[in-house]
Amino acid sequence: AGTASYRIAVIPGDGIGVEVTAAARQVLDAVAARHRISLSYEEFDWSCQRYLAEGTMMPADGLERLRPADAILLGAVGWPGVPDHVSLWGLLIPIRRTFRQYVNLRPIRVFEGVVSPVRGARPGEVDLVVVRENVEGEYSEIGGRLGRGTPEELAMQEAVFTRAGVTRIVDYAFSLARTRRSYVTSATKSNGIVHTMPFWDEVVAERAAGYADVRWDAEHIDALAAKLVLQPERFDVIVGSNLFGDILSDLAAAVAGSIGIAPSANLDPTRTFPSMFEPVHGSAPDIAGQGVANPLGAVWSAAMMLDHLGHPGAAADIVAAIEACLLDPATRTRDLGGTASTEEVTHALLAQV
Ligand code: NAI
Ligand code: MG
Repeated sequence: AGTASYRIAVIPGDGIGVEVTAAARQVLDAVAARHRISLSYEEFDWSCQRYLAEGTMMPADGLERLRPADAILLGAVGWPGVPDHVSLWGLLIPIRRTFRQYVNLRPIRVFEGVVSPVRGARPGEVDLVVVRENVEGEYSEIGGRLGRGTPEELAMQEAVFTRAGVTRIVDYAFSLARTRRSYVTSATKSNGIVHTMPFWDEVVAERAAGYADVRWDAEHIDALAAKLVLQPERFDVIVGSNLFGDILSDLAAAVAGSIGIAPSANLDPTRTFPSMFEPVHGSAPDIAGQGVANPLGAVWSAAMMLDHLGHPGAAADIVAAIEACLLDPATRTRDLGGTASTEEVTHALLAQV
């Protein structure tokens, strides 16, 4: 077999995004060499630093420059002094939407060696995936404000749910469940939100009929949040709208022991556009520059990238290295109660792969 070659666009971003992306690249290179994969990187300095210096998060032709890449690896964006909606809507959201990355995939596991803040969440038992709708739903630009600063001030924001959009995310979740424990939970709120959520429920039920081998149920988001804390081991695939999926995945990441481990993939399953891989956490200004950030979320995201590119064996090697690293107290970072630095963890991962 020949060597598979990929062009990876890297956006380290701000704060610890820069530190964890560097770690992920080292691990990727080591694994790629063993699996006859060739990765070439193009790094982009798009960030809040750039915004402060030049007035935009990325250049006007930024999306065109990412377009030829086979995948995008992102650290985190956001920095004090730049409003978070500016960094989000100036970079992340345009990438997700223009490249139709309609699936946001967030696997959650409680690893051996990690103590969950939830007493009942034991290692090996909690293993779920949140499938979040990533391009429509509650995060819309439709709406507006009137009478700013007056007593009659008014703000409205419309949620947008399309048949095509709900169908494709639900299909993705059911197909994914078939490769796992064949169980889907749909997050809803059709008792309180009376137009979009009953529509969501209807589409879920329609699509579910085509997956007779997959068990499924629907839970209201509030009850589901409670169950995720009380019985996290119960869940396999959870599918939710943009807002519900966002909240549930942070909650689930906390249940897993640290947001520093949680990975995510923004996927265009049609492969028309490059997909983007990024840790769930942000730029962590409180610990940035200290060399203590947990690189595992970024490293696991890099493994998801290899999986998406068609190299599940290479991805599994990285996940195995993460498992080994977490088992050893000497290679756990501060967020996991350890004292290891980013560099020490990275070296441990490199030794494993
Ligand atoms: P955050 O995830 O950056 O930090 C929350 C807490 O978790 C902090 O105490 C931080 O030190 C800790 N933490 C996060 N990642 C860690 C890691 N890898 N290792 C060890 N500890 C870690 O969230 P926060 O503070 O709400 O946001 C900071 C900035 O990041 C904001 O500007 C926000 O908008 C941005 N952000 C960007 C995201 C992205 O690029 N996708 C996602 C979330 C936040
Ligand atoms: Mg979030």
